Amino acid sequence: MRRYKSIFIFSTVICLAVFALFISTKFNGSQAEKRETWVTIDANELKTIQDESLRNGTKIELNVKRIQDGIAVVLTNDGELEKLSGEMHKHFQKCAGFIAHQTESEALNSISDFLVADGNQQLVDYTINNQSNVAPLVAQTTEPNVRQTIIDLSAFLTRRHDQPTAIQSATYIKDKWTALAVGRDDISVAFFNHPTNITPQPSVILTIQGTVSPNEVVVLGGHQDSIRSGTTTGSAPGADDDASGIASLTEAIRVIAQSGFRPEKTVKFMAYSAEEVGLRGSRGIATDFQANNINVIGAMQLDMTNFKGNPSFDFAFETNSSYVNIPQTDFMKSLVTTYLPTLTYTNTTCNYGCSDHLAWHEKGYPASFPFEAPFNQHNTALHTTNDTIARSNNMATHAEKFSKLAITYVGELAKGSIPTVVPESKARFDFDGDNKTDVSIYRPNVGQWWYLRSVDGGNRAFSFGTSSDIPIPADYTGDDKTDLAFWRDSTNEVFVLRSEDTTFFSYPYGATGDIPAPG
Ligand code: BES
Ligand code: ZN
Repeated sequence: MRRYKSIFIFSTVICLAVFALFISTKFNGSQAEKRETWVTIDANELKTIQDESLRNGTKIELNVKRIQDGIAVVLTNDGELEKLSGEMHKHFQKCAGFIAHQTESEALNSISDFLVADGNQQLVDYTINNQSNVAPLVAQTTEPNVRQTIIDLSAFLTRRHDQPTAIQSATYIKDKWTALAVGRDDISVAFFNHPTNITPQPSVILTIQGTVSPNEVVVLGGHQDSIRSGTTTGSAPGADDDASGIASLTEAIRVIAQSGFRPEKTVKFMAYSAEEVGLRGSRGIATDFQANNINVIGAMQLDMTNFKGNPSFDFAFETNSSYVNIPQTDFMKSLVTTYLPTLTYTNTTCNYGCSDHLAWHEKGYPASFPFEAPFNQHNTALHTTNDTIARSNNMATHAEKFSKLAITYVGELAKGSIPTVVPESKARFDFDGDNKTDVSIYRPNVGQWWYLRSVDGGNRAFSFGTSSDIPIPADYTGDDKTDLAFWRDSTNEVFVLRSEDTTFFSYPYGATGDIPAPG
């Protein structure tokens, strides 16, 4: 098992390492060069690189602090990391990146967390029995809404975590989510700020407070940052990677918030920062949640949802138990079968911790990753200036399916419903306003009214009217209290004694011989 896991760590780390190529070529500020970074990296891989560099004269200075379970914990800086990544890329031609950590103990913890996490364990009871509430919501997503969010997010020059526009794009998401939640006092939206040495880009979290079990939390997330291979500046539209995931989530938020749907468990939508530089936002949040004993019962990751790379499949689920929870992933497949019966799915794996689901999985929380296509058929324009919505025919048809899946996930894992507002029925002949009918008497020969106040049993008497007047009590003044009133046939007038202040007014109405009929 350990060996099996190590193989995956091995490939994870390589892929992670290639990525460093992307992030740092233009890092020329000396501060950036000196900034300390802890990374975990496969020990054998590292040795090959070191041997090679000795042979070919590339100087890489890496402070290898220790080796545990075949993984090296290295203290380095962004400048050295760049060289390391370049070497990794050169020797292994694998994807990209490294796993970055804030401290040595965090680096060590992530190794043991990864080894302990068991993706085959069923941690939650899954049921699908909320069709009457969920099915109508699923029908409410619209493709143009999803498309607009992709267009807006990819219009930022770059959402790379350390660029000024990355703060603007985070603010765009926060503002957009806040606007969608107007009128919902159970929904809040906030930045989750990370330590400045981790990233200046805040994550964004929208929270819907659960009505029944608020301490159980369902997470849906995607990363808000983009990246461009080979340069830290310049255009990085990231339309598919991962404006699409944020757009799918945003449309699910719109439908849930505007329909009035209220989940029984707390639901959190997250736009993680700095995923592209080593899952920094999601790892920060998952670490914080674990430290605060927050009971996350499930996490769904949406990263790349708008490129249908295989015509036969709408969803490709990551099914490698080293990276995701299998029972929860099976539950998601059942959600597709139940709610989206015309859509298809398949199994796939990217064979390393290629997105934010790993941050939750590592901490022992059930995580799943429905993806746009089998991994080798995904959008290859990612991390380039060509990652625009044009690659998806300027449509968000594919990403909209993930909005629907997200809605079913909320509706069946957090359950909930749209509360029906029953208008309070008003008691008739309620003179004292306690919503109970009061006994009343009009004695015409003396022009006297009485009513027995149900609110306190007190009797109230009024001299109002004459012997020929016809009583027509009702709430004429709109204060939810019945007013004493009569119709005087001889003068064709209505008299109303205001319940508010017992002053009266009269109103000419009707003709002699009429029979009053208030209502
Ligand atoms: N969206 C990608 C992950 C991805 C790429 C999934 C291709 C499937 C196919 C993600 O944003 C990314 O680039 N991840 C990095 C790893 C991360 C830990 C820095 C990667 O894959 O190199
Ligand atoms: Zn991505």
